[in-house]
Amino acid sequence: MRNDFLPTDPVAAVDEPVWHFPGQQDFVTFTLLADDILRIALTPRGAPPHRTWSVEPDCDARRASSFIVEQDETRFTVRTPALTLTLEVQTRVFSIAQADGTPICEQVRLRSAPGEQCWEMALSEGARILGGGERTGGLNRRGRKLTFWTRDALPHFDEHTDEMYQSVPFLVQVARGRVSGLFFDSNWHATADIGRQQPGLLTYSTTGPDLVIYVCAGPTFADVLRQYTSITGHMPPQPRWALGYQQSRWGYTSADEVREVAASFRELSIPCDAIYLDLDYMEGLRDFTWSQERFPDPARLIEDLRAQGFRVVTIIDPGLKVDPDYRVYQEGKERGYFIRAADGATFEGWAWPGKSVWADFARADVQEWWGEQHRALVEAGVAGIWIDMNEPTQTGMFAPPEIHIPHGLSLPLDTLHGPLNEPLTHAEFHNAYGLEMARATRASLERFRPDERPFVLTRATNAGSQRYTIAWNGDTTSSWEHLRMAIPMNLGVGLSGMPMSGCDLGGFWNDTTPELLVRFTQLGAFLPFCRNHSAIGTLRQEPWSFGEPYTGLCRAAIEWRYRLLPYLASLAHEASTTGAPMMRPLCWLAPDDPAALDCDDAFLLGNDLLVAPVLEEVASERHVSLPPGEWFDLTSNAVYTGPGRITLPVQLETVPVFVRAGAILPLAEVVQHTDMPSAEPLTLHVYLAQPDQSGTTVLWDDDDHPQAAARGTFATYRVTAAWEGDTVTVRAEQLDGYLAPRYPAVRVALHVPPAWQVELIGEPPEALPLTASFCVRK
Ligand code: GLC
Repeated sequence: MRNDFLPTDPVAAVDEPVWHFPGQQDFVTFTLLADDILRIALTPRGAPPHRTWSVEPDCDARRASSFIVEQDETRFTVRTPALTLTLEVQTRVFSIAQADGTPICEQVRLRSAPGEQCWEMALSEGARILGGGERTGGLNRRGRKLTFWTRDALPHFDEHTDEMYQSVPFLVQVARGRVSGLFFDSNWHATADIGRQQPGLLTYSTTGPDLVIYVCAGPTFADVLRQYTSITGHMPPQPRWALGYQQSRWGYTSADEVREVAASFRELSIPCDAIYLDLDYMEGLRDFTWSQERFPDPARLIEDLRAQGFRVVTIIDPGLKVDPDYRVYQEGKERGYFIRAADGATFEGWAWPGKSVWADFARADVQEWWGEQHRALVEAGVAGIWIDMNEPTQTGMFAPPEIHIPHGLSLPLDTLHGPLNEPLTHAEFHNAYGLEMARATRASLERFRPDERPFVLTRATNAGSQRYTIAWNGDTTSSWEHLRMAIPMNLGVGLSGMPMSGCDLGGFWNDTTPELLVRFTQLGAFLPFCRNHSAIGTLRQEPWSFGEPYTGLCRAAIEWRYRLLPYLASLAHEASTTGAPMMRPLCWLAPDDPAALDCDDAFLLGNDLLVAPVLEEVASERHVSLPPGEWFDLTSNAVYTGPGRITLPVQLETVPVFVRAGAILPLAEVVQHTDMPSAEPLTLHVYLAQPDQSGTTVLWDDDDHPQAAARGTFATYRVTAAWEGDTVTVRAEQLDGYLAPRYPAVRVALHVPPAWQVELIGEPPEALPLTASFCVRK
């Protein structure tokens, strides 16, 4: 219960940082949840606050520790070490600034009318607005109007597409090199006009009954993501295999076909960790069934694949076939577990299996029952669940011709969710449907296999979904446009709190081409989530589908992913503790560099790698904008100095990737899957571009147990490197934990510009912790 929403005395002088300002019909309430997080609520008088599915339950109880209040008849001011709120008492118009005076929002006016609550603020000149969930087009959303409504995006979405699968009303603002965040916690249909109607105005408007906004004071990207995920939660630790390459296709129609795909990976030595089973494994598209004919012994199939180092992930849709002989339908119907039409009867619509009903994830008992259905999948050895069509979406693709379902159609807004005595309309629950399906799915995996980290992949998300699942971008087309779009799209997803995401490598709809597949794979090798997936009826696009030289080029890209595993594991851990996305915009490091701010065609993986994949057909060169600092080409070791734009000659095998000077990059030798013990050493690659430069990084590894952090079965090391005089000293000290070494040895490699000669002093180090010194001379 949000007690602080129930106003007592207006502007009460209390110790608690909660202040109410009454209007004619409503209250505006400011609550300082932390020194750097301010919640603002506009609530009608006498009405209970709305429900939230996005916010961590303990959020309400949090309070800032240091704040100063000044007030007179006209002005009310609150100051914390991170922000200042100034309010005109008469009008309730307010502004919020960062500690150094940089505006977060100016001249904010809240407006309330039946069915529409608005937040209006002045946008400062030059301010960029990023984030806002999964979006097509450039990462800077200024000049656009965004709708917050999860939707199966039209096939072949383009830069004008507004509603996508993932809807996250969190906007990240960069102004004068400083970063702040605005989280509009409404589950209802909402829009944000970001300087489109009026260039200097941001108007957020929700159809919900009230307005709740969290202001994250920044002032860096890392701070904003830390603040936002302290409200909406963190991604739980992911299984290590989830960092590997994954193979999927709608159209692996039998166990034999799946075995062949798996065998090809191993025969061709193309690393792979997981194979996905789409609708094809089911009996007549019924969830929780296996086709007797095509997948006669799933447990055996999964066991055999596991012996070769593959995990199996199965798809589950929320729409269940209406079929009196289908146990899951029957049981759910008897118990009244499906979404209801406005008249109270079970709502029937159309999904992949034909006439369908939808499980009501707004109810805890339905979640429990749904979770129970996964028992057999888990017992058969399924390692993870891929949840789809959970915007939720109807489809008439397999329906009789007279049934016309427009693409992207969801459920009627007046359908009913929740227990009979506490009904809630689809209009209110729609955006949370995917999140609650993910919650139910994750809980079931936790229950049935408590010693393994659950893996859930979803299509629909909203704010907070990262607590239960990772996400992919839905039905990407096999086109160069969609290849390019994948970068700003996943950057936006990451800035919206979902740290692990990726697109269908090769593209889903339409036939891919050999060159496009190679370029998608080269991009995907560096995306947080790396899965090749394609639609039924399209050309096959496994890495070997087009023969040489394409097979070898895809293999080479995927091998990079496996070399990077120790780095990826550290980034995934960072994401799950701090909210920092694994994939970051260039401006993450350089928020005041205009080229970095406008860059939509390259990204950072962590803070140390700049990835600029080739995104044009038959390209012979690639322009790359480098942020300030020196950058080492990952493969040639050439050093470039930013800020500035360089042009590189490229061929089909070229994947421009740069390492930040000051970075310490842990690289392993290639393995064919993440369970495979490494026979080769781990190498700490140290990149220093000039004397007096230094670097530091924190590495994380664990035993993959869900409670590794609590059990102590992890190892975390701080590695530092410093170039002083003609010596570079590298030290790795253990910070915490205990883990048997994963690699037989550990080496250090020093990279400096070519004018310098490097010589290791003494014996090479053998294991962590370590100290290594190099003599560096011209
Ligand atoms: C949806 C999914 C796609 C999947 C297909 C069949 O279109 O987005 O990934 O292959 O359904 O299940």
